[in-house]
Amino acid sequence: MNVLLVGSGGREHALAFKLSQSPLVQKIYCAPGNGGTARLGENVAIKDDDVSALVHFAVKHGVGLVVPGPELPLTLGLANACRDAGIPCFGPTEFCARLEGSKAFAKEVMLESGVPTAHFAVFDDYAQARAFIEEKGAPLVIKADGLAAGKGVAVCETKESALFALEQTMRDKRFGTAGERVVVEEMLTGEEVSFLAFCDGENIAVMPTCQDHKPVGEGDTGPNTGGMGAFSPASILPKADYPAMAEATILPVVRHMRALGHPFVGVLYAGLIMTASGPKVLEYNVRFGDPECQPLMMRLNADLAEIMLACCQGRLNEVDIRWKPETAICVVMAAEGYPRDYPSGMVISGLDEAEADERVMVFQAGTKVSGGATVASGGRVLGVTALGENLSGARERAYRAVDRVRFEHSYCRRDIGKKGLKWESSSQ
Ligand code: AMP
Ligand code: GLY
Repeated sequence: MNVLLVGSGGREHALAFKLSQSPLVQKIYCAPGNGGTARLGENVAIKDDDVSALVHFAVKHGVGLVVPGPELPLTLGLANACRDAGIPCFGPTEFCARLEGSKAFAKEVMLESGVPTAHFAVFDDYAQARAFIEEKGAPLVIKADGLAAGKGVAVCETKESALFALEQTMRDKRFGTAGERVVVEEMLTGEEVSFLAFCDGENIAVMPTCQDHKPVGEGDTGPNTGGMGAFSPASILPKADYPAMAEATILPVVRHMRALGHPFVGVLYAGLIMTASGPKVLEYNVRFGDPECQPLMMRLNADLAEIMLACCQGRLNEVDIRWKPETAICVVMAAEGYPRDYPSGMVISGLDEAEADERVMVFQAGTKVSGGATVASGGRVLGVTALGENLSGARERAYRAVDRVRFEHSYCRRDIGKKGLKWESSSQ
C-alpha cells in the first residue's frame, strides 16, 4: 500500500519512521515533508492546506491510506474529500475537527456530554464580553475561538490584562477571523498532561500519557511555543487511572459525535490539567501532538499502518496495540530566537553520531536537504528522542545525543523531563 502523509514537522517524521516499519506499507509520500521524511520516502511539493491537490495526488498515485499530521487540513475537510474519493483517511471529518477548530464548539460538546472543564462563556459581541470581564474580574482566560497557531489563548492574572487581550482579539483582530468569537474561561491551576486515544468512531484505544513543555525557557518561562520537548509515560496520570480517565474525557465525546451522526475517526487528544478538585479538560486536539508523537512512536510496539486502517474501517477492537514499557523523551533543538525571529540555513552535523545509539532517533522538523547537506529551515529544527529504562536514564541518553548534534545558533531547554523526576521512585 502507498501512504500519503501530510505535514512537515517532527511529528510527521516520527509517523513516517513507524509507518515505514509496517509490512503493509510499500511507499510513503510526504506532502510537503522535510529532510527526515525525505530519507524514508518521497517528498511531494504540495502544501498541507491544499486539499484538492492532496486528494488528486492520492488518486493518481494509488494511495491506500492518507495520514494527516496537522489540524489545518482536517478543519478544511481533507477527510471528507478522501472519503468522497474512496480513499481511507486516518483523521476526523470537518465536522469532528471543529473540536479543535472551534473552542466554543468544543466547550459546548464538553458541557453536553458531561466532561469536566473550566466554567466559561462565549461571546460574539465585544461590548458584552467586556461587560462580563468587568463584572467577573481576574483571573480569567481569554481564548480566540478559531485556529490561531497556538497563540490565541491569554491567561490573565489581572482584569486589565484580560481587557487588553479581549481588545487585541476582538477589536484589533490579531488572530483574524479566529477571534471574531471568544471564549472567556475560569483560570485553572495544576500540571498539564496529554492523554491521546486512537478512535474508530466507536471503539477507542488509549495511548500512554505524555507531558509537553510549551514555554520556550527553562523552568517554564517565556513565551509559549509549539512544544520544546515531551516525555512518556507521565506518571502524574498513572496507568491504573487510564480507564477512568478515558471514561471521563474521551468516551463521552466519541459517543456524542457518533450520536450527532459524525463518528470520530483518528486521534482524539485531551489536554488535561490536574487541578486540586480533579482533572479537567483544557482543550481537545484532533491529531497527534507535536512533540508528543515522537516519544509515543518510539514506544509503540505495533504496526501503525494496521492500527490506522483498522480505525478507518471501524474495527479497532480487532487490533492488539502494545507499548514498550520503557520511558521515551524528546528534546527539541530549535533555532535561537524561536518562537520569534530566528536564523535558518545552518548546516547540521552529528546526526549519524547521535543515532549510533540504537535507542536514539533524531526526528527532523524544520530541516531540508540542500546540496547534499541537511540544513535548518524552521524554528523547531530537530527532536532528539531516546528510550531508557526510566525517565532519568532516557534523559541522560537524549542529552548525550543532543550534545553530538551541532548547528550554529542551536538552542534547547536543558530541563525537559525534570518535572517527571519527582515520580521516579514510585511505581507506574
Ligand atoms: P489551549 O489551546 O486551550 O490548550 O490553551 C493553551 C494553553 O493555555 C494550555 O496548554 C494552558 O497552559 C493554558 N490554558 C488554557 N486554558 C486555561 C485555563 N482555563 N486555565 C489555565 N490555563 C489555561
Ligand atoms: N504539543 C502540543 C500540541 O501539539 O498541540
